[in-house]
Amino acid sequence: MSGQNLTIDPERLWNMLMDTAKFGGTPKGGIKRLTVSDEDKQVRDWFKAQCEALGCKVEVDSVGNMFATRPGKNAKALPIAMGSHLDTQPTGGKFDGVLGVLGALEALRTLHQAGYETNAPIMIANWTNEEGSRFAPAMLCSGVYAGVFTPDFAWSREDREGKKLGEELERIGYKGQAAPGSHKFQAMFELHIEQGPILEAEVKQVGIVTGVQGMRWYEVTVTGQEAHTGATPMLLRKNALLAASRMIDAIDKVGMDNLPGVASVGLIENRPNSRNVVPGEVFFTVDLRHPDEAVLDKMENAFRAALPPIAERTKVTFEEKCIWKSPAVKFAPELIDCVRFGADKAGYSTRDMASGAGHDAAYIARVAPTTMIFVPCEGGLSHNEAESTSLAECASGAQVLLNAVLEYDRRLG
Ligand code: GLV
Ligand code: MN
Ligand code: MN
Repeated sequence: MSGQNLTIDPERLWNMLMDTAKFGGTPKGGIKRLTVSDEDKQVRDWFKAQCEALGCKVEVDSVGNMFATRPGKNAKALPIAMGSHLDTQPTGGKFDGVLGVLGALEALRTLHQAGYETNAPIMIANWTNEEGSRFAPAMLCSGVYAGVFTPDFAWSREDREGKKLGEELERIGYKGQAAPGSHKFQAMFELHIEQGPILEAEVKQVGIVTGVQGMRWYEVTVTGQEAHTGATPMLLRKNALLAASRMIDAIDKVGMDNLPGVASVGLIENRPNSRNVVPGEVFFTVDLRHPDEAVLDKMENAFRAALPPIAERTKVTFEEKCIWKSPAVKFAPELIDCVRFGADKAGYSTRDMASGAGHDAAYIARVAPTTMIFVPCEGGLSHNEAESTSLAECASGAQVLLNAVLEYDRRLG
């Protein structure tokens, strides 16, 4: 049978997406499956069992990245990988990351059922802590794989309760023996929902992803003075929350002044967070993104320049540090070509686009040719329990993934 006539089973993929959504399922129909949590262990165990039932060898590296490999005709060839992440935001949807792993599983199941032998082995990767919500930064363990971070750095990351990623990996039984980076592959394709509104607005079925915009994360701690709200006159206060709110407003302006750049404050902790205490300390995070590194430099400068005058006027002090820089990435033309071929073959309408969100593919692109495939999501909504992508859209993504991998494999000869 010719590989290019293989078709994935849309219902089977959909059922997997819906069934596994119970691991961390929320009452509002989303998923809370923070990385390396009990719910993450449940979905990892399920994924491992499914891959083993298809005859794959499943291995885990020392930062919890999982690799399931199906042999090919040429045992010496490096595998062709498909991969994404099974962790979610605290109020995440059912598709962000999950579609990339389960779409890959559906593609692999299709090969298995047809008894189709690829030239190279086929691998599925499930990367640890893509979200960066529980442990910052995002894309942490694909970053370790790519040599951007050391395993020690990853293990020592702490969540807001002070738990370390390394200890949590041991606790759930997913701290493997293998050195990160030792499960080599020759190329990686990542299927993902767009997480933005463009494909839906332009009524395109598939996004051919050419790269990922640059991202920088910062942490700011503002220190004022706790005081009685009733007894402390307005002019004598050192209100850390007031200062932080003005800083957040200034950060929003940095985004507005540099469109299509974006500037966001997503996490804030107010201390002591008591209704009759003038806030004494505020911690917040900053996320700046732009496709052009030079503009990102300008945004960083504007953000840094905005904070001192606000602190002076509100009589507080602050500390600010950059904790993560992920430069803009361009994907591999030869893989983009396979995706275009795969989408054309299936008759889908396409659009070339850059990714606004971060993805494991952005780090993997440093060590292997890599690209991504996007499918639309309803209203462009993501990082939201209402995130939604239809059965047909999930299926077209998985079909293009399979077609692209098979075309890459065919070109190996
Ligand atoms: C990852 O989800 C990111 O883009 O922050
Ligand atoms: Mn994702
Ligand atoms: Mn995400």
